[in-house]
Amino acid sequence: MKTPFKPGTMLYPLPAVMVTCGDTPENWNIITVGWTGTLCSDPPMCYVSLRPERHSHGLVSRTGEFVINLTTTALAKQTDWCGVKSGRDYNKFKEMNLTPEPAQVVKAPLIKESPLCLECKVTDVRHLGTHDMFMAEVVAVDAEDVFIDKSSGQFQLNHAGLLAYSHGKYYALGEKLGGFGFSVKKKKTSGKKQN
Ligand SMILES: Cc1cc2nc3c(=O)[nH]c(=O)nc-3n(C[C@H](O)[C@H](O)[C@H](O)COP(=O)(O)O)c2cc1C
Repeated sequence: MKTPFKPGTMLYPLPAVMVTCGDTPENWNIITVGWTGTLCSDPPMCYVSLRPERHSHGLVSRTGEFVINLTTTALAKQTDWCGVKSGRDYNKFKEMNLTPEPAQVVKAPLIKESPLCLECKVTDVRHLGTHDMFMAEVVAVDAEDVFIDKSSGQFQLNHAGLLAYSHGKYYALGEKLGGFGFSVKKKKTSGKKQN
């Protein structure tokens, strides 16, 4: 049996990301965003939904750019703090000891401590209600070298300790249950006869 709730957005877990914006070191800012996601694989597109009253809303609207910085359990405190304090009152990089790094394409900075940064250029803005949805093309990706396996050259994002947000709480990810398509994959046999 289910209890009916009034319609709402209880789609969890989701990534709580730190979005960087601004176009000069003086106005660089960080906002924590939960309303974010992938829109399309090719062209690669993501979105963030921001309330108009956020300081970051003005910066993203003006510059048409932002960076989605993935967060980790090591960044949980910084992620939360950047989601309760405003860039109108604080330099969040300084307060949270986060290091801005130049991006490849956009003027907004990367967060050095983030394992993966998606540089985005806004293509469309939808005024939906409480939030404006900034749809954007991912124009560059920056992956932390530490997580690139030296022998295979593969980027091991799942070694980064990614952070999840679910129903008002932050969590570390749990144990791996399988890989993409595991439900239909045939098991490898050792060659030996099995009883
Ligand atoms: C986990 C979490 C998720 C959040 N998600 C959003 C979001 O999706 N959109 C939004 O406008 N604000 C979101 N916020 C609130 C902003 O991060 C917060 O108001 C922040 O202080 C705004 O910073 P700014 O004024 O420097 O832009 C979230 C906060 C937290 C803690």
